[in-house]
Amino acid sequence: MIQWLRKLFRHDTGMDRSPTPAAAPPATPAEHQTELAPAATADPMALLLPFQIRPLEASDLPKLLGIFREAIQVSAASHYDQQQRDAWSHAQSYDSLISMLSEGDTVVAEWDDALVGFAHRIRDYINMVYVHPDAARVGIATLLYQHLEDGARIEGLTELTTHASLTAHDFFQFMGFNSEGEEQAERGGVSLTRHSMRKSLV
Ligand SMILES: CC(C)(COP(=O)(O)OP(=O)(O)OC[C@H]1O[C@@H](n2cnc3c(N)ncnc32)[C@H](O)[C@@H]1OP(=O)(O)O)[C@@H](O)C(=O)NCCC(=O)NCCS
Repeated sequence: MIQWLRKLFRHDTGMDRSPTPAAAPPATPAEHQTELAPAATADPMALLLPFQIRPLEASDLPKLLGIFREAIQVSAASHYDQQQRDAWSHAQSYDSLISMLSEGDTVVAEWDDALVGFAHRIRDYINMVYVHPDAARVGIATLLYQHLEDGARIEGLTELTTHASLTAHDFFQFMGFNSEGEEQAERGGVSLTRHSMRKSLV
């Protein structure tokens, strides 16, 4: 499944993820084949993609903490040890996550009715981008981020900043961010290295 999607969305430019019409039908993260009906949207790309990016809804909230923790525990395993991943993944509780997302702009990714990722922007700061490891490297974070950047441009912002984990550094670089250097963040008394990154929108 992942192989098919990786092939489908991989292009030389990196940013162009338009699928080819002749591709085989997609499978879902649950490994069962279904006819994937695209949701009604003004975005023409959505008619071709097996997943949908949409604004956060209240009914999504219970699922976000699980995605957050799985993304850290699995996808970040090659950059942070178990103690660091535990400290990072427990730095948010359900209540603190809801409180954080009550401000700013949050978008989620849905794949065959399953929530697989989310991203959050507060003003010029990309605060969170988390994708479930079962749905990694098929372009979901790219689409989530693009929605946030589009919103920032509509608001007239001229730059975006973020603190990127070592795991997310290459992703943000791919999105056009430049690192301004490494720094240490502290989570539950544990130190984690991250990059301070910035992207000009002008
Ligand atoms: C970082 C993260 C959001 C990327 O999500 P994703 O949906 O897999 O990313 P995409 O498929 O959109 O990747 C787009 C491009 O970014 C780069 N990229 C993404 N993940 C990468 C990785 N682990 N290593 C190297 N490059 C990576 C690649 O250039 C990729 O293009 P390619 O797959 O054609 O090579 C995801 O790995 C994650 O949730 N990580 C753990 C949590 C985290 O660190 N979040 C950020 C907090 S600051």
